Amino acid sequence: MAIEPTVAIEPTMDRLPQWHDISTFLPARCNSILDVGCGDGRTLTLCPNIGFRAGIDYDPAAIRQARSTVPGGHFCVGSAEALPYPDGAFDAIVSCVALPYVDIPTAIRECSRVLRPGGVMMLSVHSWEFLNLLFRENKPNFTGRVFRVYVRLNGLFFHLTGRLFAYPFNRGVMESFQTDKRMVKVLAAAGFQEVVKLRRPISSFVATRRRTPDAR
Ligand SMILES: C[S@@+](CC[C@H](N)C(=O)[O-])C[C@H]1O[C@@H](n2cnc3c(N)ncnc32)[C@H](O)[C@@H]1O
Repeated sequence: MAIEPTVAIEPTMDRLPQWHDISTFLPARCNSILDVGCGDGRTLTLCPNIGFRAGIDYDPAAIRQARSTVPGGHFCVGSAEALPYPDGAFDAIVSCVALPYVDIPTAIRECSRVLRPGGVMMLSVHSWEFLNLLFRENKPNFTGRVFRVYVRLNGLFFHLTGRLFAYPFNRGVMESFQTDKRMVKVLAAAGFQEVVKLRRPISSFVATRRRTPDAR
């Protein structure tokens, strides 16, 4: 069964004014940045002065596009849940509306691992309000309606338990909405501190990787 993930029809960046201020959130020393779920690479074009810009996405077509959007960037096809980079490799990580499609606790732990202590992560997810705005954009068929029930239940389950489950009719697909409370808990559990919420309806957070040695 073909499942269409819930993505905005317009280009994502038009909807996320806070991403245009990205440089104000980056750490003072920032020579390397990773975009998790980079899509066509447009987020990395907002920070042209960072020497090492990398992106990962599980869609090979997106990675091909990203390579032409960001010449000199370092892109690879791969999964947010198993980042192919060494510990502490990056000064900053960005992830713009990619986490709603992944196993979030696993992906955030991976981000924490590859971020240096004191490094900064900026991410946007789908709040309940934003998910409903997206859902209003088109009328799904029966299969699509079943999938939307799954996305809502998965988000509720995530809020209550901190865990996510794959779409029962296609185990390779995962999608959910994210509440602020749960995101703050997941970030804290993965070793982030100073979690700052930016604005609604698109939930964005900026979080700093703890400096203490016990932080995971
Ligand atoms: C809504 S798009 C956002 C793309 C880009 N960040 C932007 O703002 O334009 C979500 C992206 O997440 C990627 N993605 C979904 N699941 C992923 C996973 N498990 N690992 C890596 N990338 C994933 C998709 O291929 C897609 O490019």
